Amino acid sequence: MAPIDPHLFVIFGATGDLTKRKLLPALYHLMQEAGVAEQCYILGVARSEWSDDDFRAEARDALADEELGHWCDEHLFYQSIGSNSQRYDALRDRVEALEAAHDLPGNRVFYLSLPPAVYGDTVEAIGEVGLNASDGWTRVVIEKPFGHDLASAQQLNERIHRHFSEDEIYRIDHYLGKETVQNLLAFRFGNAIFESLWNRDRIERVEVTVAEPLGVGTRAGYYDDAGHLRDMVQNHLTQLFTLVAMEPPATFGADAIRGEKVKVLRATRAIDKSQVVFGQYDAGTVADEEVPAYRAEDGVPDDSDTETFVALPLYVDNWRWQGVPFYLRTGKRLPEKRTQIAVHFRCAPVSIFETETGGACDVNPNVLVITLQPNEGFDLHFEVKKPGDGMQLATQRLDFRYKDAFGPIPDAYSTLIRDIITGDQTLFVHSDEVEASWRLYTPLLAADLPVHTYPAGSWGPEAVAQLLPRWTNGAVPASEGAAA
Ligand code: BG6
Repeated sequence: MAPIDPHLFVIFGATGDLTKRKLLPALYHLMQEAGVAEQCYILGVARSEWSDDDFRAEARDALADEELGHWCDEHLFYQSIGSNSQRYDALRDRVEALEAAHDLPGNRVFYLSLPPAVYGDTVEAIGEVGLNASDGWTRVVIEKPFGHDLASAQQLNERIHRHFSEDEIYRIDHYLGKETVQNLLAFRFGNAIFESLWNRDRIERVEVTVAEPLGVGTRAGYYDDAGHLRDMVQNHLTQLFTLVAMEPPATFGADAIRGEKVKVLRATRAIDKSQVVFGQYDAGTVADEEVPAYRAEDGVPDDSDTETFVALPLYVDNWRWQGVPFYLRTGKRLPEKRTQIAVHFRCAPVSIFETETGGACDVNPNVLVITLQPNEGFDLHFEVKKPGDGMQLATQRLDFRYKDAFGPIPDAYSTLIRDIITGDQTLFVHSDEVEASWRLYTPLLAADLPVHTYPAGSWGPEAVAQLLPRWTNGAVPASEGAAA
């Protein structure tokens, strides 16, 4: 593991939910590694008039760990800040005072755990008071969504680049911090048997599914404006797609990997709007619980036509993938939590077995199902002879489950924060990548596509059946489902 430099970790939005739920627990997890706790000082920043002790009390509550109290008292600080620039002068003075008091060399992380609308202003305020210039390194961390379309993402990149260079900017997509998402690289480039099959000659289609049983919850203010295409497809699903479709990088380094992902996006054909299905959940039953329609959720206008479900095909026009569809589909209020990639191999060209029609493809083709969550692992589906008279075939699975081999998997945020502190950008999104992704989806935002309803607890609108005949309403084929 790379060593950790002494640094100040400044969290903007320190009184918010993400800080409490994800950042503090992830930081605490890191502090348990030998030699880390002494190097890390945290300064929480937000508008509320809290004291250091208020912030420490919140942290103790989030961490629910008595032993940590002592560390909190010595390493956690809080600075209240408003919107005017003098408050940023006060922030700069506080940062410098803490660095002097704790003998820190000026290494600074600025983590923006803030509403996206204030990313640009905050980075500019940091730059204007000179917080981005110190004797050490400085890094700025930005949560998704990065922009709300191509033009706004370009504009935000431009504003941030005025104060930070690209190698100081860490754009988070928390999917990249998931162990199983990183394992896609190990799976593909550490196993020659799969890589040699990974092309249009052997693969018929790839299906990327991110299904959630949850509804919009308490986030209607953000989500109703954003919609599911922006919330999930432009970032998380597109990351999964690029990791499956990219060429082998020359090295396992940030530049090489991120460069290959951008190439995939640039080779991806403009999306055919007639093949895109948008849906919105109606009332229904999920996990035996009756749930309201999206339009009846708190904070959602009752005539909202925001999509809560998206299915669409992507095609990569390069030698490896020409003609192979990558179907992305994702929605809220689907029957279960499932994030998986199903790689469907081509069927045998002829069947020598007795089947109903005796034709090719009567025998089930092989499918490789990579399950990213829950029950992380993969399954390879293959045909065997059923014991007994005659030659009857049955589909069986070779399966690997992470938890059996390695026990519990660390949270994505622990991985990402460690990488920020050690300066590894491999799992963060480059400006070229974020713009290439928006270039693909921005035309759909203006397309005024019909939004079909689907009952909560179903697998999406019926219109999906035309796009994906085998993924019809309510029926995920058993051969695609990972073991529960
Ligand atoms: C977030 C989206 O980025 O990802 C949420 O804003 C979504 O709407 C969440 O629920 C899903 O993340 P995970 O890690 O639970 O798959």
